[in-house]
Amino acid sequence: MPEFDLVIRHADVATESDRFSTDIGILDGKITALESGLSEGEQEIDAAGRLIMPGGVDSHCHVEQISSNGVWTADDWFTATRSAACGGTTTIIPFACQHRGQSLRDVVKDYHDLAGPKAVIDYAFHLIVSDPTDQVLGQELPALIKGGYTSFKIYLTYDALMLTDRQFLDVLAVARRDGAMVMVHAENNDMIKWMADRLLQAGLRAPKFHAVARPMLVEREATHRSIALAELVDVPILIVHVSGGEAIEQIRWAQERGLNVYGETCPQYLFLTEDDLDKPGLEGAKHMCSPPPRDKANQEIVWKALEDGLFEVFSSDHAPYRFDDPEGKFKAGKDAHFKQIANGVPGLEVRLPLLFSEGVGKGRISLEQFVALTATNAARLYGLFPRKGTIAVGSDADITIWDPDKQVKISQSILHDAMDYTPYDGKEVTGWPITTISRGNVVWDKEEFLGGPGKGEFLPCDTPPALSAERRPVTAFDPVTGVLS
Ligand code: URP
Ligand code: ZN
Ligand code: ZN
Repeated sequence: MPEFDLVIRHADVATESDRFSTDIGILDGKITALESGLSEGEQEIDAAGRLIMPGGVDSHCHVEQISSNGVWTADDWFTATRSAACGGTTTIIPFACQHRGQSLRDVVKDYHDLAGPKAVIDYAFHLIVSDPTDQVLGQELPALIKGGYTSFKIYLTYDALMLTDRQFLDVLAVARRDGAMVMVHAENNDMIKWMADRLLQAGLRAPKFHAVARPMLVEREATHRSIALAELVDVPILIVHVSGGEAIEQIRWAQERGLNVYGETCPQYLFLTEDDLDKPGLEGAKHMCSPPPRDKANQEIVWKALEDGLFEVFSSDHAPYRFDDPEGKFKAGKDAHFKQIANGVPGLEVRLPLLFSEGVGKGRISLEQFVALTATNAARLYGLFPRKGTIAVGSDADITIWDPDKQVKISQSILHDAMDYTPYDGKEVTGWPITTISRGNVVWDKEEFLGGPGKGEFLPCDTPPALSAERRPVTAFDPVTGVLS
């Protein structure tokens, strides 16, 4: 009887902090041995000449979720997780999204019902809190946090989802009291609406005006406000999908003050620009997301902030709406103006190859930084480490084998999501995940998807470690405990 279910031989392993050669022994879905010369496994993979990394952790993606415009994402839990697996990702953390009037507990149950039978790889949930009633703040959130839902996203824009500053403070207070990480979509709603109304009054309706309605300062203002509100409550926050320089300046300012403010960016802010929204006809809609892609100079600033460690995580913000589909981007009709077009771009499958090729391949970030940004940091930040996000004895055997020299021209035909376009069409990359292993099972190999629906497991998250940081009270009165010192 072999000692291992699977042995990966001649593994050149990269983690967030190390590079080492070893064999990897896997039993019952866990890594149980890391040394050369391991005994035989029931299954063997020779990884000579390849690179071995922890499977990616994509901590921002929207799956089987209805947008604020009432459009369902194209991907369901099967196609989204298949696509993730084929792109080297082994854990996703999408959202269970509360719409006003809904009980959060019911929302979470509904998302589990969707995910459980279809997920191919493991998953956790962030909660989107859009209706922080007394019941939600006092009972549902505390119970859900105990149950392993230890991160919430809140919106400062979109009428249907956004919180007022006061509601945001209430949510931050629960996060500090009960131990959760708050993620913020930081854009100023009134600035956007005011600009959009004036654009539309002037007859300016095309996709490119989406970016004109949301200039960087809209994001800068909301980022700064979020930092200030979190400082008042004395709790960590993460600013999601940061698009460029002005928001980065705010995060850097906060970090230099010693505040626990984290940042996330996404492929669209490295590889797309606002010019893409100005493509002929309606093509620009393929590149519409919020915040919008900026210009080349801002792309460089985002790269610099990835290099110098300002960003903690690199996520896809996969928000897939099909282009040529009456239920997709143009659900409101082909004559829809920019406010009526569904916002979001896909990216689950290409997140890792894009950053590997342009980041590691071009010498902008190290391999260790790549692993940290795409897997380890997200696992740690959201309370899944060391089960996920690393290659270590005792961790889940979630492993991606890379061919660092494989050249691929990205096109929709090679991807495994349910989309009808990719915004990265025609982009040539070097390096591709050729094998993906999810809890010891090979789910992607030799350009073939080998996984199955329902094999993914729900991952309850621990308290995010950032919540244990030393307190930095702003006043003598602690607004969370009610104690005056
Ligand atoms: O445009 C985007 N990012 N759509 C997805 C929803 C969100 O705000 O992340
Ligand atoms: Zn968002
Ligand atoms: Zn998002």
